[in-house]
Amino acid sequence: MKTVTTLSELRAARAALAGTVGFVPTMGYLHAGHISLVQLAKRDCTSVIVSIFVNPAQFGPNEDLDAYPRDIPRDLQMLQEAGVDLVWLPTPEVMYPPGFQTWIDLDEITQPLEGGMRPGHFRGVATVVAKLFNAVGPDKAYFGQKDAQQVAVVKRMALDLNFPLDIVVGPTQREADGLALSSRNKYLSEAERAAAPVLQRALQAAQVAYAAGERSAAALRALMQQTIEYEPTARIQYVSCAHPLTLQELDTITEGALLSMAVYFGKTRLIDNVILD
Ligand code: PAF
Repeated sequence: MKTVTTLSELRAARAALAGTVGFVPTMGYLHAGHISLVQLAKRDCTSVIVSIFVNPAQFGPNEDLDAYPRDIPRDLQMLQEAGVDLVWLPTPEVMYPPGFQTWIDLDEITQPLEGGMRPGHFRGVATVVAKLFNAVGPDKAYFGQKDAQQVAVVKRMALDLNFPLDIVVGPTQREADGLALSSRNKYLSEAERAAAPVLQRALQAAQVAYAAGERSAAALRALMQQTIEYEPTARIQYVSCAHPLTLQELDTITEGALLSMAVYFGKTRLIDNVILD
């Protein structure tokens, strides 16, 4: 496995890779969810490139950029064991050269849900992902369903800007008790960790109601909210039942829906979602 930092090193190493290239962009502190994306990329492509870059532009002023967990030696070990060909670790200066002033802003799709709670977040994500795509030039890029709005935003951006690649979405990976894997789980206290699987139980309660014929989005939102409120440590930021592509809130579910939520456990904000089919 080769590791590079500068753009010229990346370009030379990329040019030396034969066949198709699968790309997994990450912010590091890897877990089994990231490795499952690497495995999908290895299944589909001749070579796999992973980037590790904690992108300052997608953190708000009150968010945890400095505290964001980092462990590059451990990440590299995991990627080596997973059979990755090339890891790119750009510095902030490579991604945001002095005088940087070119941003990618998407309209409606970034307004609700995460975008509503984290102003500027998707501007940072779309800009860095476009720059990563430009530099790496992959045939396929892999993202986790856990960040459902990020998936929708990246797909829209790739279409709008004519990036010649496929976006592949990997399923959310979970702990045995249902908690979705996330680098942020490490911030949870023991009591918060014990409470957090309520998110998946809330999604499952809504799925069961949907399977039994419930088509009112308000009823599904209420059911998820009530389930989460059983946990006294959980503080709901939003619970949503939205159109899976536009992300606009639904009244009636006709063709599936994205059920999603953001909930605080102590100071840790967790998200989870499922698409009804
Ligand atoms: O999902 C993430 O880890 C990040 O948002 C991404 C896609 C690597 C962009 O910084």
